[in-house]
Amino acid sequence: MFYEPKKKNHGLPKNPFNSLVIPRPIGWISSIDTEGNFNLAPYSFFNGVCYSPPTVMFSAGAGANSDNTKDSARNAENTGDFVCNMATWDTREQMNQSSATLPQDVDEIALTQLTPVKSRMVKSPRIAEAPVHLECKYLKTVELPGWNEKDVYKVIFGEVVGIHIDDEFITKEGLVDIAKIKPIGRLGYNDYTLTDLDSIFTLDRPA
Ligand SMILES: Cc1cc2nc3c(=O)[nH]c(=O)nc-3n(C[C@H](O)[C@H](O)[C@H](O)COP(=O)(O)O)c2cc1C
Repeated sequence: MFYEPKKKNHGLPKNPFNSLVIPRPIGWISSIDTEGNFNLAPYSFFNGVCYSPPTVMFSAGAGANSDNTKDSARNAENTGDFVCNMATWDTREQMNQSSATLPQDVDEIALTQLTPVKSRMVKSPRIAEAPVHLECKYLKTVELPGWNEKDVYKVIFGEVVGIHIDDEFITKEGLVDIAKIKPIGRLGYNDYTLTDLDSIFTLDRPA
């Protein structure tokens, strides 16, 4: 089959695009607003984009706030930082719950009964239950135009200035034990994938 996204002529019951760029890592973004309220939400248009300095991005679509923004993007822009928490099998339910559309001042960390922990380099809190935290300083926003006026995307870039890895998940050889962490990734629709011992394989790079 072939279709042109703008014409929406795929003829399928659901838009297949989200099933075609997969699996997507989930940036579980914790942040703080100018009033000091905590915020937490998952973003799967999320990735690392370079090494030196380590830099990440997440892309927020139009949100329910009066200025059309989502809280995570607005907070990063207004307060200058955010934290990416790694979403895992153990926290999958809380991750999903934290995606609910809620008023700006609702703290999804408290709502999902997770534990906020002070960060070292940024004001945004970390989530104790996550095995990995990337403390990020806000770098810039790239706004991407959508198909209509309201359909604006804010791609938020942040420099990773502090990294926490729970020691429990570092092997005696000094590697990050991803099989033990069991990160989850986003597929299309409401489907997810799990990385564990059975799904990891190694390929040596050609010389
Ligand atoms: C697994 C998952 C991934 C998501 N990825 C995105 C995304 O990449 N961009 C986006 O705008 N919304 C995404 N959402 C929806 C947001 O999490 C949701 O709109 C949330 O309410 C935003 O919260 P905030 O306003 O507190 O930032 C995702 C939801 C889930 C469950």
